[in-house]
Amino acid sequence: MFPELLKHEFERFYSTKPAGIYFCPGRVNLIGEHIDYNGGLVMPCAINMGTFLVMAPNTCGKFRIRSLNFDEHLEIPVADRYKKIGGLWYNYPLGIIDRLAVAGSRPGGVDLLYFGNLPIGSGLSSSASIEVLTAFALNDYFGLGYDRLGLVKLAKETENHFIGVNSGVMDPFAVVFGMKDMAMVLNCQDLTCKQVSFGLDDRILAIVNSNKPHNLAESKYNERVRECNVALGLLNRYIRVENLCQVTPCQLEAYKDSIPDQTIYNRARHVVEENERVNKAAKLLKESNIGAFGELMYQSHHSLKELYEVTGIELDSIVEFSQGWEGVIGARMTGAGFGGCAIALVEKDAFPAYSNALIDFYEDRIGYKPSIYQCAVSDGVNWLRC
Ligand code: GLA
Repeated sequence: MFPELLKHEFERFYSTKPAGIYFCPGRVNLIGEHIDYNGGLVMPCAINMGTFLVMAPNTCGKFRIRSLNFDEHLEIPVADRYKKIGGLWYNYPLGIIDRLAVAGSRPGGVDLLYFGNLPIGSGLSSSASIEVLTAFALNDYFGLGYDRLGLVKLAKETENHFIGVNSGVMDPFAVVFGMKDMAMVLNCQDLTCKQVSFGLDDRILAIVNSNKPHNLAESKYNERVRECNVALGLLNRYIRVENLCQVTPCQLEAYKDSIPDQTIYNRARHVVEENERVNKAAKLLKESNIGAFGELMYQSHHSLKELYEVTGIELDSIVEFSQGWEGVIGARMTGAGFGGCAIALVEKDAFPAYSNALIDFYEDRIGYKPSIYQCAVSDGVNWLRC
C-alpha cells in the first residue's frame, strides 16, 4: 500500500515517473545498550517498520527532497559540499549526499520522496533508516560502487560529522544487515557479526512507545560518550585497553580507585557489565533459554536506569509494569533512551490483556497513553519492484 501511494504522490510532486523504489527498516536492540561506541557487543534486529523512498534522476541539476511525513522540503543545486540546515529532517539525506560528494561520488540532480511508518525520534533508528536508505538507493541506481559495509560506514560518518551525534555503528549496521527472524550479535570493535535464530514462535515482540519526545537526546547522548572517554582515560593509566568493553568486571573492581568520580565510575560499570550480559544473552538464545534471556533484559534496563541514567519515569513505568505481569518474559528500554521506546517479549496468549492493562496503567501514572506495536524481525535495506 505505501509504495503505491508513494509512487502516485511522486508523480504528482515531480511530474515524472519513479525510476526506483527502496525500503529500509528501523531496528530494535534486544540487549547491549550504549556500548557500541565503547567497542562492545550488541544484539539488534531489523523490524518490519521503516522508511520507503521513491526516486528518479532529473535534468534540472538539483536535489529535490520531500517526505509525506513533513511539510518542510528542500530544493538545492548539485554542489561539491553541503552544510547542515537547522534541525530539519532533510539533513539526513543531505548529509549522505554531502558525504558521498566528499568521497568523490556526485550523482547529478535527483528527485526523492520519502515516507516512513516509524515513530520519529523514538529510539527505533528513524535517522539511520533514512540515511542508509538514501545511500543504498543512490549507490544502487548510479552504481557508485559501495558494498554493504561501505554504506554502514557512510551512514555512521554522516551521523557523526554532518548531524553532530557521536553515535556508534549499531544502527546503520542493523538496518543494513538485518535478517528475517534473526538477531545479530555484532562486535562493534571489529565489526564481526553472527546471526542467531530469533524466531518468535508463540511469543510477541512488542514495541511500547512512551510517546515522550526525547528532545535532550542528542546533547545527553554526547555527554555519555564523553563520560565514557573520561573513564577510559583514567583506566588507561593502569591498564592498556583500546576501549571500555575490553575491561573485565574484575579489572574494573580492581582499579576502582582510579575513577574517583562516582558518576563516571557508574557509567563505566554499566558498560563493562552490559557487555558481559550480551555475551551471556547470546549463549542463552542459542540454547533457546528464553526465560533467562528475559531476565537479562530486566537487568540491562535496571543498569541503564541506575548506573547510566538514561531511562526516566516513562520508560521505567513500562518496564516496572511489564515485570509484574504474568506472561511477560522480559522488557527493557531500547535505543538511546531519554524517552522513546521500550521492548517487551510477551507470550502470545498474554499479550491482549497485557497491552490493555499497560495502556491504562501508563495513562494513569503519566497522563497520556503509550502506543504499542507488535513487530516482526525483518530483512535489511533493499530495493522493491517498481
Ligand atoms: C543510539 C545510537 C546507537 C547506540 C544507541 C544506544 O541509537 O545511534 O549508536 O549508541 O543509541 O545503544
